[in-house]
Amino acid sequence: MTKEQLVKEAIAARQKTFSPYSNFGVGAALLMKDGTVIHGANIENASFGLSNCAERSALFSAYSQGYHKEDIVAMAITGDTENPISPCGACRQVMNELLPKQTPIYLSNLNGLIKETVIKELLPYSFDEIEHNEE
Ligand code: THU
Repeated sequence: MTKEQLVKEAIAARQKTFSPYSNFGVGAALLMKDGTVIHGANIENASFGLSNCAERSALFSAYSQGYHKEDIVAMAITGDTENPISPCGACRQVMNELLPKQTPIYLSNLNGLIKETVIKELLPYSFDEIEHNEE
């Protein structure tokens, strides 16, 4: 799948937004190694702080379906912005932990502008995952 095709998936994911408070829909799409594409949209709440961004919706959905970091090939994110959308700080922290370090991340807008990046560029000098003990 090309980056343009994955961006189209993110645009389709954006249609599933629930954003009556901001009226700003965001879509994200994850391409998995088995060819599956997982969509995420921003889902808002009247208690604004409980809203979930598209990026986290997509990643939490993937993990909830049993996928892990190593299953992810690429991620695309889109919104109705002049320049390619820029993920919020909270999402960068989550992406840092749940995406492989070299995963191509395609930031885009609805007009076909695409900026390719990686998590290290979005979140330099990050607080990384702590060691977990095996249960
Ligand atoms: N939002 C995302 O879903 N992803 C981003 O990268 C930026 C912001 C959402 C949060 C909120 O629902 C709306 O966009 C406006 O901030």
